[in-house]
Amino acid sequence: MSHAEDHSGDRRDFLYYATAGVGAVTVGAGVWPLVNQMNPSADVQAASQMRVDVSGIAEGTQLTVLFLGKPVFISRRTPEMIAEASGVAVSDLMDPEARNPNIGDGAEATDINRTLPPFEGENTGEWLVQIGVCTHLGCVPIGDGAGDFNGWFCPCHGSHYDAAGRIRRGPAPENLHIPVAAFVDATTILLG
Ligand code: FES
Repeated sequence: MSHAEDHSGDRRDFLYYATAGVGAVTVGAGVWPLVNQMNPSADVQAASQMRVDVSGIAEGTQLTVLFLGKPVFISRRTPEMIAEASGVAVSDLMDPEARNPNIGDGAEATDINRTLPPFEGENTGEWLVQIGVCTHLGCVPIGDGAGDFNGWFCPCHGSHYDAAGRIRRGPAPENLHIPVAAFVDATTILLG
């Protein structure tokens, strides 16, 4: 209630002014629960999901976004990168697991199992979405075909990942992890 709206007399004005200091504190503490109640879905979605427009990502390049405090690499691979990564036998990999929660535990780390199907149509392996955190001790690997396997290289202790983000040499124990992700239309990936 503003002062201008309070027409109920001196006594009420006196009480209002006398308690204003305490009331201000109470109102401050009550604001956040109220906002959360009013916008539960917006609040939750802001924390756990993110939509990424991938229409501007050129073939052979990577967009890095920050999601839940970690970098996420969204790579649009060339036919050459896809062919190279697809040609690797799972038996040659240090970590044979796909590390892809979108297809379930235990799937083999084939190139196609590491990549994201488009909104419609066949998965050609064009899109690779990964959490950009080295599985050794958590540095952010360098991309753009870095390392001895034309993928990502972690300079902290020398881990080499291939064009599908699979660990091929160095101390990292696991392939780069893949986040929960899906295309929700032709040019938008929903993370989380
Ligand atoms: Fe990447 Fe050690 S943190 S190699």
